[in-house]
Amino acid sequence: MKGKFIVFEGPDRSGKSTQANLLSKYLTNKGFCVLLTREPGGDGVAEDIRKIVLRPEHKVSPMAELFLYEAARAQHTQHIIIPALEDGKIVICERYTMSSCAYQGYGRGIDMEVINTLNNAATLNLKPDLTLVFLMSDKYFTQRGEYLFSDRLEREDEVFRLKMRKGYRELAAKTKNAVIIDADRAVAQIHKTVLRELAGYGVLD
Ligand SMILES: Nc1ncnc2c1ncn2[C@@H]1O[C@H](COP(=O)(O)OP(=O)(O)O)[C@@H](O)[C@H]1O
Ligand SMILES: [Mg+2]
Repeated sequence: MKGKFIVFEGPDRSGKSTQANLLSKYLTNKGFCVLLTREPGGDGVAEDIRKIVLRPEHKVSPMAELFLYEAARAQHTQHIIIPALEDGKIVICERYTMSSCAYQGYGRGIDMEVINTLNNAATLNLKPDLTLVFLMSDKYFTQRGEYLFSDRLEREDEVFRLKMRKGYRELAAKTKNAVIIDADRAVAQIHKTVLRELAGYGVLD
């Protein structure tokens, strides 16, 4: 495909949206055609699934949770991401397949083989050109989120968050074209690192 697919991963409040916005603005100013999008979401159907899966009052079984995310992913990939990549755009997507491995795999304990099979089906085997995994110390979860609305997954406890953080580390280490970004630092510093990684992986060529 002509475009480039960049995925921002990491726990809630690790600064993915902040950095994705900064990168999108930077690239747009440089004359690149950019699509900034997020999971679960991206189009009407997937945004509706997002509301179901993240609503705090819902009790969702782990397998139902996985399928809801995969349904949203299938819709988003086929209707939004692939057409944009075929158009030659740089697609910046907040969360993708690695989130299911971290949350539903490491977090909820679903068999990773099941998750990988569903990930491959939902994405039509599309793989990111680069996955940036934002990892921060757990203390910032509270500090950075004091005034934010918490969705169903953000209300999980510290034990769950630690499991996922460990998961993200292991996943980043074994995934092709994935790098860990130290998200404890200041916004501007992290942005510089993001640009350096993009250049290093030839995403801006
Ligand atoms: N590097 C940073 N240092 C301090 N606060 C930050 C940093 N990055 C983001 N924030 C703040 O933390 C909160 C969560 O950031 P956000 O980008 O929404 O994270 P995510 O999309 O990963 O959930 C926001 O209030 C944001 O302004
Ligand atoms: Mg976000």
